[in-house]
Amino acid sequence: MIKKTPRLRLTQKERNMMRAAARFNASVMDHIRPLVKAGTRTVEIDEAVHQFTTGHGHVPACLNYAGDSMPFPRSCCISANEVVCHGIPGSYDLKDGDIVNVDLTTIVDGWHGDQSETFLIGSPSPEAIRLTQCAFDSLYLAIDAIGPGCRVSVIGDTIVPYVKKNFGFGVVDKYVGHGIGMLFHQRPNIPHVPTQQSRRDRLEPGMSFTIEPMVNLGTHRTRIDSRDGWTVRTADGKLSAQFEHTILMTEDGPEILTLTQDGPQKGHRFA
Ligand code: MF3
Ligand code: CO
Ligand code: CO
Repeated sequence: MIKKTPRLRLTQKERNMMRAAARFNASVMDHIRPLVKAGTRTVEIDEAVHQFTTGHGHVPACLNYAGDSMPFPRSCCISANEVVCHGIPGSYDLKDGDIVNVDLTTIVDGWHGDQSETFLIGSPSPEAIRLTQCAFDSLYLAIDAIGPGCRVSVIGDTIVPYVKKNFGFGVVDKYVGHGIGMLFHQRPNIPHVPTQQSRRDRLEPGMSFTIEPMVNLGTHRTRIDSRDGWTVRTADGKLSAQFEHTILMTEDGPEILTLTQDGPQKGHRFA
């Protein structure tokens, strides 16, 4: 799905454009955060994302984003429980015990910021909380493991042993992080498991990309909903959790561009 080949190492001016886009995207997450609770219909969150984003003169990148088949119909992805990613906001009412990922992407002056968080609604099961913690810690372990010029495979080589040995959970390999800039999805692919290509690709200073591990309670395998063409669910119907940040690799190391004011910070404990 990654077709075009932009110049990947950004100038200082371009880095500042990415910083601004990501900072705005993070402010959208803070804006909708209070809505993500039991009783909220997921489309209400989508409407809030759309209003806030367009109200500030920016563009929700997901709306009409062209996939392999149909354009994505909403302004963000909301993926509850067994939905791994690309859930379409709709008539589902969040309920106590759910875990739900909200994935936001905004285009600000041509540049993209992309991030997601899994929210605990009320009191989910101990295993749901453990899964969410595992996905969150996987993201930060990977961020701490990368440095200027490192191989992309450092990410998979960090996440997979951590998740397998400590939890026995599945790491999704079908959906990956990605280079990001003036394009939503660009080179390089950022898989969360090591691959041949990721052992060749490097994270050079000036590159912006996402890390967005999806961790499943059971099998890592997934299925796309054949009716809507977007919703990705676990093949076994068990829970899935994900966190995502947009990152800029600098000469001094990774800079997380999508940090929020009110969200879980590095080291956060969900229970
Ligand atoms: N935000 C997702 C990502 O992290 C992509 C969503 S594409 C959409 O890459 F069309 F489903 F919105
Ligand atoms: Co995203
Ligand atoms: Co992404």
